[in-house]
Amino acid sequence: MRVTVGVSGGIAAYKAAELVRALQRQALEVHVVMTSSARRFVQPLTFAALTGHKVITSLWDETESTTSDQSGIEHIGEAQWAETLVVAPATANILAKFAHGIADDFLTTMYLATTAPVLVAPAMNVNMWEHPATQANLEILRQRGVRVIEPGTGELACGMVGAGRMAEPEAIADAVLDALGRRHDMAGEIVLVTAGGTREALDPVRFLGNRSSGKMGYALAEAAQSRGAKVILVSGPSALHPPAHCELVKVTTAEQMRNAVLERMDEATLVIKAAAVADYRPVNVSERKLKRTGPITLELAPTEDILAEVVRRRKPGQLIVGFAAETENRMENGRAKLLRKGADAIVVNDVSGEGVGIDAEVNAATFLTPSTAIELPVMPKRKLADRILDEIQTLRRPRSLVVEMDEETPQERVLNESDAPKKRELIVE
Ligand code: CTP
Repeated sequence: MRVTVGVSGGIAAYKAAELVRALQRQALEVHVVMTSSARRFVQPLTFAALTGHKVITSLWDETESTTSDQSGIEHIGEAQWAETLVVAPATANILAKFAHGIADDFLTTMYLATTAPVLVAPAMNVNMWEHPATQANLEILRQRGVRVIEPGTGELACGMVGAGRMAEPEAIADAVLDALGRRHDMAGEIVLVTAGGTREALDPVRFLGNRSSGKMGYALAEAAQSRGAKVILVSGPSALHPPAHCELVKVTTAEQMRNAVLERMDEATLVIKAAAVADYRPVNVSERKLKRTGPITLELAPTEDILAEVVRRRKPGQLIVGFAAETENRMENGRAKLLRKGADAIVVNDVSGEGVGIDAEVNAATFLTPSTAIELPVMPKRKLADRILDEIQTLRRPRSLVVEMDEETPQERVLNESDAPKKRELIVE
């Protein structure tokens, strides 16, 4: 399959080389188009050497075109050749040009001429990213079906800290695979995902909440959607953009989340409870803002355990997957939670580490079922979402037959299920 990588002029242009390699590892054929400012950061030769194709750098410079067509309309040829156009890094300028149909170089002209899916991986200074002009341009592009691969947060090349760092090349490559429909194994599924934290009011201005950003749940929603599932995303307050085309149900409190989930769960084939739900709510909510009068004691009442209730009400064939946030005795606590709640699987996170888990860009987890424990090492949350869905998909397969090979007499012996973790699994399709 054929991908054109557009490189515009930002410091992250060097990462486009890693993206090209990641795409090639997936056996994709890659062409590269560079804007004139991108050439100030990276030499076209780098990409030419990686791809084995000349790099297109101008509408007019025929000697540097990738196609044999020398008629001066290579942008049409390239636009038809590409099965996906991914622009990484996408600067504020290129996003503005795309949004407003300005076609003054090869990349912007090709964007107008292609009917292939388009993805952009923005990279810029945090103020430029947050500027209303950039956000409005992104909104226009999203409305037109352009897939925006959200930038990460962290230290930026300009020295500032904030949003604007280009997504990791591996995550961009995964998004390209999705756009190419290389993974479409969830068509027909209806997936209910809960995401974010909940808030329990103390008074009109204060609440009890937690640090969950919703990133893991939103990544799962996006991954399931791009694998062909219909997605209902029940989300606590979050600053994230929901993936295009998924149904967003906004909630604030644990009680609202419970109601939304119970209302919609019957239609779901898979429920993933990634939300960090409050375990307690204040018994008394003050109608007026609480005044500072010295020490106070809050009386808290437990909330309903939504996951346990979903399991109690499950319909035949529904799969239910929970999450567990642990700071100690991860595996023991995770396994106890899995058994207590009765879910098909629990994704156990260690939330004690810095820069991993809650509110971070990356996460690591263990996918725990009653008979298996699969370690998923640190990776971007979007990639982890796909790995989790891969594991969930294996739960859907016909009951696996657990066998043991006897080395002396090569016969297979069926074991009982409790032996399963110790033994090789033979999947009988
Ligand atoms: N959960 C839920 N309803 C709650 C609390 C948690 O549905 N009131 C779900 C979460 O969405 C998650 C799973 O239960 O899928 C585990 O959440 P976690 O906070 O790790 O566990 P708790 O059940 O709250 O147990 P504890 O805080 O004691 O570890």
